Amino acid sequence: MHFIAISGSLRKASFNTMLMHAAVKLAPEGVALQPETLHGIPLYNGDDEDTTGVPPRVEELKDAVATADGVILFTPEYNSSVPGVLKNAMDWMSRPPGDVPRVWGNRPVAVAGASPSPFGTAMAQVHWLPNLRNIGARPYFGAKLYVAKAFTVFDAEGTLTDESTARHITAFLQGFADFCSR
Ligand code: FNR
Repeated sequence: MHFIAISGSLRKASFNTMLMHAAVKLAPEGVALQPETLHGIPLYNGDDEDTTGVPPRVEELKDAVATADGVILFTPEYNSSVPGVLKNAMDWMSRPPGDVPRVWGNRPVAVAGASPSPFGTAMAQVHWLPNLRNIGARPYFGAKLYVAKAFTVFDAEGTLTDESTARHITAFLQGFADFCSR
């Protein structure tokens, strides 16, 4: 089983990118995560889309999603909602509308996230739901993965050091893999 993992933060020291790489390492047997970041994606502008089309990096991500068994979004939380960088990328990835069923139609999508706050992106994760509904994805509602106080679970190199978080990641991935195989 092959999942596309997308970190919604561009920061070098991003907790969400750290979480994504921890998940890559903790993938259960038979599951591989392909980690992706969103560098190089311009702000959506309908005029640019009309003149030059969907940017190559976005087409690349769309094609990766279209052939994946599932997608995992590692979302930061900004102002109790979704972050612009990931929203912008998801908006681009829903263009053109005629391509949405190929890319997202019934595609299993899980949402996870890490934040320094005690709530671990719970609000942002909820706010992804209307987006997933709009593109016809199949959201995963099994095990939750809210990594709170993220500064306490990774070391200075970005390696996960907290065993409880590792167990949560494993349960989340196993649950998502089971969901994708149904
Ligand atoms: C934040 N942050 C934040 N955290 C949170 O848990 N709830 C929130 O509502 C917000 N709001 C918010 C707004 C803006 C504009 C910024 C820049 C930040 C803090 C955020 O969780 C923190 O910066 C994380 O480290 C971002 O994720 P990465 O970059 O570490 O993956």
